[in-house]
Amino acid sequence: MDKFRITGGRPLAGRVSISGAKNSSLPCMAAALLTAEPVVLHNVPYVRDIITQRRLLEDLGATVLTPELRTHKITAAHIEVFEAPYDLVKTMRASVLVLGPLLARFGKAKVSLPGGCAIGTRPIDLHLEGLQHLGAEVNLEAGYVVARAPAGRGRLQGAEIHFDKVTVTGTENLLMAATLAEGKTTMHNAAREPEVVDLAELLNRMGARVRGAGTPTITVEGVEALGPAEHTIIPDRIETGTFLVAAAITGGELELRDCRPEHSATVISKLREAGVEIEEVNQSTLHVRRGAGGLRARDITTEPHPRFPTDMQAQYMALMTQAEGRSVIKETIFENRFMHASEMQRMGARIAIDGRTAIVDGPVHLTGARLQASDLRASACLVLAGLVAAGETIIERVYHIDRGYEKIEAKLRSVGADIERLRESVTASLPPTEIGVL
Ligand code: EPZ
Repeated sequence: MDKFRITGGRPLAGRVSISGAKNSSLPCMAAALLTAEPVVLHNVPYVRDIITQRRLLEDLGATVLTPELRTHKITAAHIEVFEAPYDLVKTMRASVLVLGPLLARFGKAKVSLPGGCAIGTRPIDLHLEGLQHLGAEVNLEAGYVVARAPAGRGRLQGAEIHFDKVTVTGTENLLMAATLAEGKTTMHNAAREPEVVDLAELLNRMGARVRGAGTPTITVEGVEALGPAEHTIIPDRIETGTFLVAAAITGGELELRDCRPEHSATVISKLREAGVEIEEVNQSTLHVRRGAGGLRARDITTEPHPRFPTDMQAQYMALMTQAEGRSVIKETIFENRFMHASEMQRMGARIAIDGRTAIVDGPVHLTGARLQASDLRASACLVLAGLVAAGETIIERVYHIDRGYEKIEAKLRSVGADIERLRESVTASLPPTEIGVL
């Protein structure tokens, strides 16, 4: 498995282009299953999870062409398989996003239950409850969700859905299912993430009638059928946040291009509070550097959008190890999302964990060490810590970071970081066409 070798201590300087959002591309690719017509998606990031989603769609019978590396033309004209198998779902929980579209268009779907992952148990009960509200019959058989549209009607039925908890992919699954249901669906306490809004925009381009995306109440008037569409995926706000922290933690200066500052408003304002100077150059460009007064400890609590995103918690914790004072970090979304803390403790960080609260004392002098990545955002945190640590850091299992960051080591090297990927028998793990790209 690949590793990263990083020698820290270099302030980053230069320009970085932000890729498209993984967490918008995944539901938008699944949405192509709602029509037999071609759906063309631009600005799709070239990351491992996208490759997995593409394979899933092809296994179902869709064709996925990539006229350009970041453009996907998906045509679900001949779907013959209605099952997302365990082997795929276990590698990427977001595969569950095919459940709503398959059920809505074909009246049947079989999807492996995702099971837990490193950051939490992550059940999908709210997805299933929502589909049952739309009239679906849902059973669990041998680790699979087996769902069918109401007998005799063949179509899902519009309904009122109240989510007990805000769920991003739950909202997206129900949103897609409701587009082809008979009648009106109203979702209450829906997720407001920019990725949900982006999906709704695509669905409306396909001919759906979605209103209120981005607010807690989304309404969908079901239609008979959906058609072709072309759509550009929004920039990745978590990659944007990660590079904002990279500039601040190294004491460097970066210009981030092709991003969408408005989607990172809460992260930007928190970083400014913590002493980071961030200028919105225009609607797609940010300029960032550490303020002359240095970094100050500031508390955060992770919550659904538009509050502080859980996907930036780990990166923010790395920054707080370099800030003056004590910061309290509360993780309210996932029950086990502090795996990066114990790795940073091995570098000398002063972090105390108490359940879902982490207390960070800084600033400390981090020293390089051999580290293990446990999940996507934890690995980004370790890369950031390695960039500021004295000496050499080796990060193992970087396949986690490849899931959601496009060429992160190349982007960092282009702005002065001393980072390289140590490949270990990659030829065995990746198909020949993809060697050298990731
Ligand atoms: C999405 O996951 C993102 N993934 C995650 O990003 C992100 O961390 C998360 O939203 C929260 O922002 C994608 O969009 C592909 P949830 P999702 O359903 O939809 C509980 C990354 O790093 N819950 O909003 O799976 C759940 O356990 C990834 O890119 C239920 O109890 O998250 C959690 O505590 C990691 N029952 C909370 O709700 C359900 O049916 C929020 O989860 C569904 C969720």
